Amino acid sequence: MKRTLLIIKPDAVKRNLAGEILKRIIDAGFKILGMKMMWLDKDEGARFYEIHKGKDFYEWLVNFISSGPIVVCCLGAEDAPQKLRTVVGATDPKKAAVGTIRNLFGTSVGENVVHASAPDEDPEREIKFFFSEKEIFNY
Ligand code: RTP
Ligand code: MG
Repeated sequence: MKRTLLIIKPDAVKRNLAGEILKRIIDAGFKILGMKMMWLDKDEGARFYEIHKGKDFYEWLVNFISSGPIVVCCLGAEDAPQKLRTVVGATDPKKAAVGTIRNLFGTSVGENVVHASAPDEDPEREIKFFFSEKEIFNY
């Protein structure tokens, strides 16, 4: 079993979609190993997304992720990082495959309801950004 990170972004939390999204994640076969609700400040948002520093959407993205509460989950499954990207769909909801979370709930390329660790961008670094090992449970 591998681990990955899911963030239910501020747009989805504000629209009360956290439960709908988590149901779909669980139905897809993921186990929730850790979960917390938090509100990042801009410094934390900037650090989390530092991989995007210099891109034209970086400042927008930092403001967006710190614009309201988020729900952060450490998920476990076989090939979890790859599997979660499939369930979440493409960045732009208009291009996301039918039935994916972004296809169902996303409203724009920016406000796309969830973050899923990219398999090639170190999911374990993202998990450790939010969780200590004591906050992740193997049950
Ligand atoms: P994520 O990291 O959130 O799971 O999304 P992703 O890999 O599919 O997309 P990525 O390229 O890593 O971009 C991170 C987030 O930045 C916003 N974005 N806006 N306006 C734009 O062209 C644009 N491009 C990306 C999205 O919120 C995206 O999820
Ligand atoms: Mg990404």
